Amino acid sequence: MVRLADRTERTVPFYAVEVLKQAQALAAQGRDIISLGIGEPDFTAPARVLETLNRAADAGLSGYTAPAGIPALREAIAHYYDSHFGARLDPARILITSGASGALLLAAMALINPGDEVLMPDPSYPANQNFITAAGGITRLIPTTAAHRFQLSADDIDAHWGPKTRGVLIASPSNPTGTSMPRDALRTLIAAVRARGGFVIMDEIYLGLYYDEAPQSALTLDDDILVINSFSKYFHMTGWRLGWLMAPAALMPAIERMAASLAICAPALAQHAALSCFEPEVMQIYERRRLSFKERRDYLLPEFARLGLHVPAAPDGAFYIFADVRAFGLDSTEFCRRLLNEAGVAAVPGLDFGQAHASHTVRFSYATGLDRLHEAIGRMDDFLGRLRTTVAETTHA
Ligand SMILES: Cc1ncc(COP(=O)(O)O)c(C=O)c1O
Repeated sequence: MVRLADRTERTVPFYAVEVLKQAQALAAQGRDIISLGIGEPDFTAPARVLETLNRAADAGLSGYTAPAGIPALREAIAHYYDSHFGARLDPARILITSGASGALLLAAMALINPGDEVLMPDPSYPANQNFITAAGGITRLIPTTAAHRFQLSADDIDAHWGPKTRGVLIASPSNPTGTSMPRDALRTLIAAVRARGGFVIMDEIYLGLYYDEAPQSALTLDDDILVINSFSKYFHMTGWRLGWLMAPAALMPAIERMAASLAICAPALAQHAALSCFEPEVMQIYERRRLSFKERRDYLLPEFARLGLHVPAAPDGAFYIFADVRAFGLDSTEFCRRLLNEAGVAAVPGLDFGQAHASHTVRFSYATGLDRLHEAIGRMDDFLGRLRTTVAETTHA
């Protein structure tokens, strides 16, 4: 039998995908399942983007592009970051990738030597560990608290930076919590890492999906960090596999050299079509959709409170609510298993995002229409009522 590389053993699973499979299996048996599991917008690309895609296909623009992407798209992204998130950067510092995933892999491959250690918050997006592992690095998940909005702090850097630590990988807003880093906290964190000569990889994939104050990019605090974004979440183009990496100018030749070999280029037709995302009328559609995510969050948070589903840090972005379910007397994995089987509602157990909060947290994604969310709350009300009765009986027995 062919021997697999050791890194396959160190690759952590994606439980959200497992939940999706179980939900699909139940749906195939005729059950009506409401998906609050997978982190995928229920919207798709606006019609105008599809028209541009078709025009690009008809014009035969489907060959390889330059490894860094088509110049017009790099310029459009530079303008978007300037006009929306206050960061001025030369388009030459932007490299188009196959989703944020392609950008994360490229950043890891460019910065990490075998044995290098990278700090990340616990909880965080599970695939991040695997990008570091793929590059031969070692991840250290640092337990975070609701008081710090489940984000790393400068104090964490002081406490956990070791001789092999080379940098941090963070996300704001975060998956699974939907919480952003306050600007001052981010500033001191970046300063603490940079004072040690470390790298900062900041994942801003959810930056456009904000519901309170309009955010600024981390690039406005420090130009010498690597920032990642994507067309998957705010632009609702998950399967188009398009994202981008913004890196310091001095790193670009090396990163481009690697990108040319590892991917050749990001999908060409998707790149041409994505140009239309930034047209004013299309941006208006995206803004309306952002507000509908806000409406969902604003509906769900009070409903969660009413149901006794404790949310330790209220989300201000993305489309996730990270809830503490320990009041219901079940381990989070068992909680999700029963919620799916008994109430037909799919959610992801905390185990997907690290160990620190694994046993008692559940991630609910509200990338689902309000009518289905109303239905989900109704089902959860009944389900949690039954669990509460069991907990009360056990306590009094
Ligand atoms: C925090 C975070 N980063 C990156 C990704 C990967 O996104 P993409 O589809 O752009 O590869 C996801 C997807 O869920 C995510 O939640």
